[in-house]
Amino acid sequence: MPETLTITDNRTGKTYDVPIKEGTIKALDLRQIKIAEDDFGLMTYDPAFMNTASCRSSITYIDGDKGILEYRGYPIEQLAEKATYLEVAYLLLNGELPSKEQLANWVDTVTHHTILNENFRHLIDSFRYNAHPMGRFISSMAALGTFYPEAKNISDATTRQKQIERIVAKVITIAAFNYRSMVGMPYAYPDNDLSYPGNFLNMMYKMTEVKYTPNPVLEHALDVLFILHADHEQNCSTNAMRAVGSSEVDPYSAVAAAAAALFGPLHGGANEAVIKMLNEIGSMSAIPDFIKRVKSGEGTKLMGFGHRVYKNYDPRAKLIKKVAYDVFEVTGKNPLIDIAVELERIALEDEYFIKRKLYPNVDFYSGLIYQALRFPMEMFTVLFAIPRVSGWLAQWQEMLDDPDQKIARPRQIFTGAARRDYVAMDQR
Ligand code: CMC
Repeated sequence: MPETLTITDNRTGKTYDVPIKEGTIKALDLRQIKIAEDDFGLMTYDPAFMNTASCRSSITYIDGDKGILEYRGYPIEQLAEKATYLEVAYLLLNGELPSKEQLANWVDTVTHHTILNENFRHLIDSFRYNAHPMGRFISSMAALGTFYPEAKNISDATTRQKQIERIVAKVITIAAFNYRSMVGMPYAYPDNDLSYPGNFLNMMYKMTEVKYTPNPVLEHALDVLFILHADHEQNCSTNAMRAVGSSEVDPYSAVAAAAAALFGPLHGGANEAVIKMLNEIGSMSAIPDFIKRVKSGEGTKLMGFGHRVYKNYDPRAKLIKKVAYDVFEVTGKNPLIDIAVELERIALEDEYFIKRKLYPNVDFYSGLIYQALRFPMEMFTVLFAIPRVSGWLAQWQEMLDDPDQKIARPRQIFTGAARRDYVAMDQR
């Protein structure tokens, strides 16, 4: 079977054979299709990248119809059950699971990089008390880069690796310090005896005790949530990371840009939106009315449902639902869970959602756990961003090493006015 696509241009009658490789044709192969010598050549029009692969990647595999998610070939269910987040971050960044020694070194390095330059506190102090934690996080990431001017040497492997270690390590400190500043509590410094999620809980919640001891169930739950959020191939923020990184800017600036993309309610902001929605519904009896409003298309969406890629149950949502009940064993049940479960049950039986293949996504249950862990709602997207930096950085490295990649620069179809002459103010 020839691996080609034959295209006939009915404007000219000419026929072209375009190679098909890995289920795709190269958009640039269409450029030869012209109606005249000075014609620019055919382009594709694909707003929102609905059917365009922007890269080749060996990091994360998703089969949206079957509800499959794998990091470097390992099913998410196995990683969530058996690995730690830092082990998974290593896997994403390096391609293989670490040996015992490699893991010990990686954990030790990350642990010893969690501390922030003391000047950084003044930056955090300068935010208004009610500044949104994601605004703080985005600004803090960009500001962090100013402490490491060598970070711009992105082609030097050692420098690059050092920034990766710093970013993965310092995000928990940045997130926690910004929280303490919001609530007017003194900063709690990292404790090198603790695990990554345990240390984060320590910096968030340590009071006057000499040593903070995280609850192991909650520490583990947070670690699982970190694993589930670590990467998700070419989503909006990862695409931002790659696009901004393709200008060869330093990784702190690219991570800040990716975090900004994550902030939006259609992406990482959805977990916050789910809690607001569940609060607004308020009771089981109000669910049918709410579903009716969603179906009427009046602009209300069932937040935490639907996905550009998954047209089946998001495997992360399944795992998170289970973690939720483990957490509630310790914290007591979040009363909103009953509304969420009933909402899911009704939606999954409803023709509107069935026809559109709308299922719960990762955000449907995660907010309920974060709430039970006493994180304020505004911090939910930060909790998504913390582990996602490992995915962003893995994708950034892959992009930098990919000879096919250049600065990201899409084309446009110009729809504005044809050339015209400037009109003097008194003649307009
Ligand atoms: N509630 C009600 N209707 C929906 C929903 C929803 N949550 N999501 C999609 N639809 C409808 C949509 O109105 C459209 O209907 P119609 O064909 O009648 O016009 C149809 O389903 C297809 O939706 P779409 O908007 O074309 O799908 P998309 O791939 O562009 O959007 C999405 C994907 C995630 C932005 C969207 O499903 C959504 O807004 N969901 C709610 C927000 C949310 O939970 N986001 C978190 C995504 S997962 C975390 C992450 O990866 O960031």
